[in-house]
Amino acid sequence: MSTEDAAPARVPAAPFSDTRGPRGGRLSRRAVLGLAGTGAVVAVGAGLGIRRVLAGEPVGPADPAVAAAEARRPSSGRTIDRVLRARPTTVDLGGREVATWTYDGLLPAEPLRASVGDLMRVRLVNDLPQPTTIHWHGLALRNDMDGVPDLTMPAVAPGARFDYAFTVAHPGTYWFHPHVGPQLDTGLYAPLIVDDPAEPGRYDDEAVLVFDDWTDGWGDSPDVILARARRDGMGSMGMGDMGDMNGGGMGSGGMGMPTAADPLGSDTGDVRYPAHLVNGRLPAAPHVITARPGQRLRLRLINAGADTAYRFAVGGHRLSVTHTDGFPVEPVTVDTLIIGMGERYDVVVTTGDGVFPVVAVPEGKPDPAAFALLRTASSARPPADIRPPELTRQRLEYPMLQATPAAAVTARTPDRELAVTLSMADGGRRWLINGKAYGQHDPLPVRSGERVRLVIDNRSMMFHPLHLHGHTFSVAGTSGRGFRKDTINVLPMQRVSVDFDADNPGQWLSHCHNIYHGELGMMTVLSYRS
Ligand code: C2O
Ligand code: CU
Repeated sequence: MSTEDAAPARVPAAPFSDTRGPRGGRLSRRAVLGLAGTGAVVAVGAGLGIRRVLAGEPVGPADPAVAAAEARRPSSGRTIDRVLRARPTTVDLGGREVATWTYDGLLPAEPLRASVGDLMRVRLVNDLPQPTTIHWHGLALRNDMDGVPDLTMPAVAPGARFDYAFTVAHPGTYWFHPHVGPQLDTGLYAPLIVDDPAEPGRYDDEAVLVFDDWTDGWGDSPDVILARARRDGMGSMGMGDMGDMNGGGMGSGGMGMPTAADPLGSDTGDVRYPAHLVNGRLPAAPHVITARPGQRLRLRLINAGADTAYRFAVGGHRLSVTHTDGFPVEPVTVDTLIIGMGERYDVVVTTGDGVFPVVAVPEGKPDPAAFALLRTASSARPPADIRPPELTRQRLEYPMLQATPAAAVTARTPDRELAVTLSMADGGRRWLINGKAYGQHDPLPVRSGERVRLVIDNRSMMFHPLHLHGHTFSVAGTSGRGFRKDTINVLPMQRVSVDFDADNPGQWLSHCHNIYHGELGMMTVLSYRS
């Protein structure tokens, strides 16, 4: 039993109620500190001026409420079994071999595929020289399987293994990756597709396209990049705490604010990559999608990059956008879209007759683009450096999107409003949420059953793809039904509100999916309280 008061209550420091991990292993001391802190958390409601205390114990990954939520998920009675072996390997990107880390020696790993209600049983075997975990990005799954070290499970030691087991509740396009340090910027990733038994099937065929910014085994390693960012900072023109505008520098926008030419602002990322890949392939030996002319082809787009948003287009084709982060929207037809790190879009194209460029241009970076081919006939292939005119035609913008009635969240006044303020400090050596770096963060408290509003306020001059684990929120558009997302690009100096139902108890990470920003502090915890 817990209480909410208008005035800060005196609540004794509450130890984490159960410090045992999902397999009985004890969580580290850092986990205990990060989870529990004190039993009382002050929530400042932005806009509403609500200031209240939510007392109560953190609902940890081993809490019976987590198993109870799992028991409420639909069950198909089917099980998907898979072993994923994380290990150092050499992969051929297409004319260039690189030493990196992958699952099973493949880049990307073989997609995981299931249907709604299936039990996913995945054994992670860690043959890396570092601890690792797998996070199932976008899934509303049981908290003890979320793969966040020291928050939902202990990291899996080198030579050890961990058996994940969870039910998939929602159809859609997801993916998985490690959640330890900058391991995401190696080759450790793959799609996770959940099929819909009630799929309307308004397409003939499908292909999955994973975009990735590549440096491992070629340019600097992710560890070197992170160490440099920690030493020298990231963000060439940041304004830390609303401070001085010491802008200038690169980009046409001068101040760095979004413009028609630079819709994410002029500083979109600080890591230069030697290459960008589609499905693990370089432009010189690209991934080829084979289809027949006149087909309705569904493309599932996944940005697995660590520091790069991509501007995507298929030469000679328009894109009918049908899903955002796995959930259906009323189809919108555009020529191009920008996909941030961690985001997914499903689009349908009606295939032409020939060989067409499939292009993902690093937004705001001079790096070479990622490139694939769509082939429906045996004609000559376009050059890898082609820039289809679609890239500068009509671009998808969030306000154009609206959920389908089935995917919409019912209207409800939020019970709780939580500020998520994003900022830069120390010249980009630290990136903060609500003024604090992860580890010192103030958890965002919620209680099961509440409708929660996050007011995400970007007070920096870079965009941040903010991701929430375990939930798919609803983004209020300019009109109509909010579209569903788990990762949203928040533009420089922009404020965005998203709503979700607190229906998945546990401790959930929320962070910038620029993996270097996250590692430099831009992470916090959505903390269910009993
Ligand atoms: Cu792709 Cu913490 O997530
Ligand atoms: Cu960021």
